Amino acid sequence: MSAALKMDPAAPLVRARDLSVRFVNRDTTVHAVNGVDLDLAQGEVLCLLGESGSGKSVTLRALMKLLPKQAKVGGSIEVAGRDVQAMSERQLADFRGGDVAMIFQEPMTALDPVFTIGRQIAEAVQRHEGASRSAADARALELLELVQIPSAKRRLAAYPHELSGGLRQRAMIAVALACKPKLLLADEPTTALDATVQIQVLLLLRELQEKLGMGVIFVTHDLGVAGEIADRVAVMYAGRVVEEGPVGPFMAGPLHPYPQGLLGATVHGGMRGKRLTTIPGAPPSLEKLPEACSFAPRCPIAEPACQQGVPEARPMGPGRMARCIRAVAP
Ligand SMILES: Nc1ncnc2c1ncn2[C@@H]1O[C@H](COP(=O)(O)OP(=O)(O)OP(=O)(O)O)[C@@H](O)[C@H]1O
Ligand SMILES: [Mg+2]
Repeated sequence: MSAALKMDPAAPLVRARDLSVRFVNRDTTVHAVNGVDLDLAQGEVLCLLGESGSGKSVTLRALMKLLPKQAKVGGSIEVAGRDVQAMSERQLADFRGGDVAMIFQEPMTALDPVFTIGRQIAEAVQRHEGASRSAADARALELLELVQIPSAKRRLAAYPHELSGGLRQRAMIAVALACKPKLLLADEPTTALDATVQIQVLLLLRELQEKLGMGVIFVTHDLGVAGEIADRVAVMYAGRVVEEGPVGPFMAGPLHPYPQGLLGATVHGGMRGKRLTTIPGAPPSLEKLPEACSFAPRCPIAEPACQQGVPEARPMGPGRMARCIRAVAP
């Protein structure tokens, strides 16, 4: 890794301001992300919550400059004090899978079917640390043990299709950790797994996060997952963060009517596996967002004033904010 890409240990891990992403096609513009501010401290776990299409994945990809060409990105993104937008392709290549790693929902898309698990991990180690082949192979074994793959030594020689879904997900985490990232971006990495395996992988991620002191941004639909792993949550709706705060107070009582509706009557227990799709109505079209609260048409407490302008982010006690003119601080 080049010296220019060293992290600034004093800088916040992530600081995005007024982040916006538009997809401009011939006759439509999709406003996928609209003025998002994100902060992540070193070693902190932030869960991005929200229903399908709310802009979670696009936000995450923007942080790594991993969006297609037709995406127009606005605002500022700093990771460990470095301006991501200004990075060259070369710097980005060092940055991704270097200081920052990403894991996805479907490990088969991230693992190469024609190489063994061991080779793929060793490859990542060699690329980022310039280690010798034998040192990289030894580190691959260590990493498989770190992600608690049973009979790790034997599994080094396995191809991705020879592993179960849960083990593949662990192998993908091992690849992501090969370069000792300071920041891990995880996009619904456990959604495809069945419930018991999902919880095992989550607990593993949490354990690794603490052991390695990584900051994590974790995208999920699942409130139970957020409760299990997050320090802080940010809830997205129509490309905006509508509520943000520490996980405990949020789970005990969200302040914005959208997450209030999502949590509904299930705040206490039995949340695991509950998907955030239970509010009547549909989100607005991202092609034409109103100059108003975009949740108002579905909101049980909307009033005429909610149609006047996009609600500001209002401070709601320590570390909390809600974009709702009717929200009341606890
Ligand atoms: N390449 C693209 N071109 C046009 N629109 C896109 C593109 N990628 C994403 N979008 C749109 O941006 C919006 C936000 O998508 P995003 O993938 O971030 O949602 P999400 O919150 O991750 O949803 P899910 O929970 O289903 O994964 C969606 O309306 C999606 O259709
Ligand atoms: Mg997504």
